[in-house]
Amino acid sequence: MNVDNHCQGRTGVDESALVEEIKRLKEERGAVIMAHYYQQGAIQDLADYIGDSLALARIAADIEAPVIVLCGVHFMGETAKILSPEKTVLVPDITAGCSLADSCPADEFARFIEAHPGHTVISYVNTSAAVKALTDIVVTSGNARKVVESLPADEKIIFGPDRNLGNYINSVTGRSMVLWDGACHVHEQFSLDRLVELVKEHPEAKVLVHPECPAPVRMLAHEVGSTAALLDYVGKSDAKEFIVVTESGILHQMRKKYPDRTFIPAPPTDSTCGCNDCSFMKLNTLEKLRNCLRDMSPAIEVDPAIMERARRPIVRMLELS
Ligand code: 13P
Ligand code: SF4
Repeated sequence: MNVDNHCQGRTGVDESALVEEIKRLKEERGAVIMAHYYQQGAIQDLADYIGDSLALARIAADIEAPVIVLCGVHFMGETAKILSPEKTVLVPDITAGCSLADSCPADEFARFIEAHPGHTVISYVNTSAAVKALTDIVVTSGNARKVVESLPADEKIIFGPDRNLGNYINSVTGRSMVLWDGACHVHEQFSLDRLVELVKEHPEAKVLVHPECPAPVRMLAHEVGSTAALLDYVGKSDAKEFIVVTESGILHQMRKKYPDRTFIPAPPTDSTCGCNDCSFMKLNTLEKLRNCLRDMSPAIEVDPAIMERARRPIVRMLELS
């Protein structure tokens, strides 16, 4: 098994029959398949739409198809369902959660908001629908800066749940948003020491960092941005080598789009493999994708009252960006 296949969760078995079955079921169901860049390569390859969290939300809001299969994690499926409640939103593995979303339980976030009266509440899209329902404006890593900058300079803001993204936005906007103390276990796992070594070994390489990484890692970056922004940066850069400091699924898309460049995954602290996988994202497999189209299950359901309140801050985000 080569390193790329391992990082993309590929098994080496012949997947072509499964892919054909998925395509056939997709037609029968009138479904579209949407995939996040952190999905395994085989899923990215057969998706109708692939993107970062912002792109997936936009597509879910606009799409006509009656069935969406959201290959990502639970909050992404929930966002699609909130934006398109009349559609069936399927997810290959309903247990695919998110450590960042889990770091912000809605009841504790409600108490945090109560403790900061007069603040506008901004929440990262990596949250449950119940947290979004407590929020004034949702953001993604692709538009957080723009949304914050659209507010008056003296506006008091609570930002949750990612302390690293919040800290990054504070640093580039000069704001002093009050931050919820949450984080993503994947992006906090990158080893600063091993990254410094990599930078020394590849002095010409550009360093691409997702803003969920802590500040010392971000300080080594040539570009800090969402998965889509990092891909765009490669397209506009003359560099031949890139050190990629985010979840390893993005490497598949980078290598596919830019085969003449070299992409080096930044290693996590505890790994012999050298790349950093989100175990939640990688719960989705081709088999589970086939099964959900075959069974029309599992489907995302959101409490109607929460859905109503959660839609407003997501729509506001789409309007502002
Ligand atoms: P993007 O906003 O780049 O899609 O990131 C989503 C995510 O879950 C990062 O860990
Ligand atoms: Fe959540 Fe982190 Fe996985 Fe993104 S990479 S889905 S923030 S656990």
